[in-house]
Amino acid sequence: MNAHDSSRMEEVLSGAGYRREEKAENADVIVLNTCSIREKAEQKLRSEVGRLGLLKKKRPELVIGVAGCVAQQEGEKLLTSLPQIDIIIGPDNIPELPSLLAEVSTGGLPQVRTVFDVDQPSFLAAAPEPGRSGATAFVTVMKGCNERCSYCIVPYTRGPERYRASDEIVSEVARFVAAGVREVTLLGQTVNSYRDPAGLLEKVPAAGECQWRHTRGARARQDETEFPELLRAIAARVPQLKRLRYTSPHPRHLTSSLILAHKEIPILTHHVHMPVQSGSDSQLRRMIRRYTAAEYIERVTALKEAVPGLTLSTDMIVGFPGETDEDFEATLDLVRASGFVSIYGFKYSQRPYTPALKMAEDVSEPEKGRRLARLFDVIDEQKAAHLASVVGQTVSVLIEGTSKTGHWTGRTFRNEIVHLGKEVTGELAAAELGTGAIVEAKIDEAYKNSLAGTILKVELEADAPLAPLELKISPKSPHFGDQKRLPVLA
Ligand code: 5AD
Ligand code: SF4
Repeated sequence: MNAHDSSRMEEVLSGAGYRREEKAENADVIVLNTCSIREKAEQKLRSEVGRLGLLKKKRPELVIGVAGCVAQQEGEKLLTSLPQIDIIIGPDNIPELPSLLAEVSTGGLPQVRTVFDVDQPSFLAAAPEPGRSGATAFVTVMKGCNERCSYCIVPYTRGPERYRASDEIVSEVARFVAAGVREVTLLGQTVNSYRDPAGLLEKVPAAGECQWRHTRGARARQDETEFPELLRAIAARVPQLKRLRYTSPHPRHLTSSLILAHKEIPILTHHVHMPVQSGSDSQLRRMIRRYTAAEYIERVTALKEAVPGLTLSTDMIVGFPGETDEDFEATLDLVRASGFVSIYGFKYSQRPYTPALKMAEDVSEPEKGRRLARLFDVIDEQKAAHLASVVGQTVSVLIEGTSKTGHWTGRTFRNEIVHLGKEVTGELAAAELGTGAIVEAKIDEAYKNSLAGTILKVELEADAPLAPLELKISPKSPHFGDQKRLPVLA
């Protein structure tokens, strides 16, 4: 989400006449985009501003901006501890960056803008450029979060859920594809809670159904999500798109209709990242995750049955207040039962403005470290077994660039990273290989986190033109704030 916001900031600034400078020493303006999900990320900001303060001593005209979640969280309080800062700007205020810069560069006081656009939500449209957009792109479908996971600061820093009109989303996907992008990842804090504010999506089979044995209460069985409808709309209206992913879904919106979408949409990749956080029911309750371990397993098992070979990864927190040895063992059991092939594992970090602040921090730092190491041991074993099982298979690889060793690298439909030899002979040598090419490759070897393979066939060349795009934006779509409707692509 932050990388995506940084790209939007770059676009807003280049629209205002700024250009990219690689060296901080030469820049007139430096904007630090920040994360506050864990304390460490916040500390990083403080040391970086200190370092940039030395540059500012030499060049007082240097403008230092702080954007993102720490900016939103701390607001003008940051100016007290870090007086070097000139601009503080929250995630919803990116379009205002040029006007704030104009204000400070003409001698104005430090500027602070951290206001959520709750009444008139707007989504900055991306500006894809042929040859510059790469093979993969992110497209935001919603922002904010209505969950109240007790450890998480995101609802505070990103505000309530707001959804983007489906025709804007489809149009942005189409514009990326027209610029050469082959794979799009739909982005949102709880991406699969998506509902279309424009009301344009057709209901799909099994819409709203959520019949899980372990889900209690009538409300839990109803789900208003239109995310499966959105996936189908994108696949139908941008048929040139080769791969579609999304991140991050919330397990409670892994509905029957989403599983059906996975079964029926050929471009939906065979990998899902589904944060679970813990495998202990009492911990999940204290975390306010609104599902049980059994329910999580039941849902992902149904997904894997619908899409044979689908791989799963997850987010996990160790050392949340009250986590006993038994709770942690339950987490390891869930990791084994779900068969994750990779994990983002984190030590619990106390955050301001979160309900868990009231819970005693009773797992020591060294114990958190030990649990995290054990978690990674289990995952490393599962990952190694999985990668070894791919050796000898023929897979489709989307080339995303070159590695440090000069090999083409890309990812499979299941998200495994593959390094490909650059030496190609015969017919293959004539084909245009490079970012955006899709090749068929035989997997020769498994490393710790990736695979090595040989190209057998080029399925799509790097610069292959795709059929012209035809898209119509429905007149039913509402006008959101000052944001102009996106142009119709023809
Ligand atoms: N401490 C540790 N990890 C956290 N996450 C969110 N909040 C915290 C916290 N306070 C993790 C969750 C989430 C991921 C993005 O960050 O696992 O899924
Ligand atoms: Fe944070 Fe929970 Fe929302 Fe994810 S779903 S952003 S963990 S509050």
